[in-house]
Amino acid sequence: MRSFVKEGARVQVVMTANARQFITPLTLQVLSEQPVATDLFDLELESQIGHIQLARAAHLVVVAPATANVLAKAAAGVADDYLTTVLLATAAPVLFCPAMNSKMYEHAVTRRNVEALRRVGYFVLEPDAGFLACREEGAGRLPDPEVILEAACRLLTRPTLKGRRVLVSAGPTWEPLDPVRFITNPSSGKMGFAMARMAARRSADVTLVSGPSALQDPPGIATIRVRTAREMEEAILERAPGMDVVIMTAAVGDYRPADVAPQKIKKGAPELTLQLVKNPDILASLGRSRPPGGSQVLVGFAAETENLIENARDKLIHKNVDLIVANNLTESGAGFGADTNRVRIIDRTGAVEELPILSKDEVACRILDRVESILA
Ligand code: CTP
Repeated sequence: MRSFVKEGARVQVVMTANARQFITPLTLQVLSEQPVATDLFDLELESQIGHIQLARAAHLVVVAPATANVLAKAAAGVADDYLTTVLLATAAPVLFCPAMNSKMYEHAVTRRNVEALRRVGYFVLEPDAGFLACREEGAGRLPDPEVILEAACRLLTRPTLKGRRVLVSAGPTWEPLDPVRFITNPSSGKMGFAMARMAARRSADVTLVSGPSALQDPPGIATIRVRTAREMEEAILERAPGMDVVIMTAAVGDYRPADVAPQKIKKGAPELTLQLVKNPDILASLGRSRPPGGSQVLVGFAAETENLIENARDKLIHKNVDLIVANNLTESGAGFGADTNRVRIIDRTGAVEELPILSKDEVACRILDRVESILA
């Protein structure tokens, strides 16, 4: 519930009698800042037939955790409490997030109920596998809040990239010196992961190639982990030909040590000189190899500390891309590690769209809007 509130949603909580055994309505009322609906015959809430209004007003209904009991009742159309009545009365999409003992989840009757729910258009998330509350291992764990949030956001987002294949690169690269040291940069991967998640919310088929990042694989997105620029190049060039859109968000290391010491370099001499050799420019080879007049949309980023627009325009031309997203690493609210970014989007006409400081999710959406208009 908190992640929905954080995302900007107004959350109206409905609790069953059993749910109230685990947590008090007051707790959820305080967190949601809305009255919690529990009783179908509540004189105050129901004076305006609250359950019908609630069912009508919702853009999405999320049942989390969904027990075997509630799945069975919903599949049979039983409406004997607030929740099941709202489920029957709503025209909004409904997302069930099952959580129960693994034997109960795997039971033929529950499987049948899940299938029946899906057949009539309900969405049912697969539970996670792991250690359950009943001290058994198996499938039945409530998925992480981020997984539920992403699934919900997908149901609320227009599928404007449906059928499109999108490849995104993210994060830094590691260029090793020896088995325990490497050259890198402070990229966190947040911008690229946001691009991938937002494209998936619009129903694109997304592949994410990420350098070393502490972020977890985004739910439902094929994520390939690489370390060096050359590994990233291989992963990207292999997949790029089948893609409708390629977005190079990664902060690729431009140089790597010429030699990688097979053993840890010992400190000894007062000075140590490293010789570096140039890494491949992945975006430039993507720009070179795409067929002229083809339909693939190529997006690059430009990280600059001076002459932002001029340098970014230069990259757009030299790397033959459709859009360059320029950010000034010295500006506050922009650049490495932050949750926000401040960018300018430059297109092939040279026009500059200046965006205010936005969350990386919002920046990703604005870039995808531009990509969609090129695709159209
Ligand atoms: N890029 C790439 N391969 C590299 C370096 C950069 O594919 N070896 C991509 C980045 O992912 C980004 C764009 O090229 O989309 C621009 O990266 P940036 O670091 O801003 O520019 P560079 O081309 O490295 O130029 P410079 O460092 O001289 O500014």
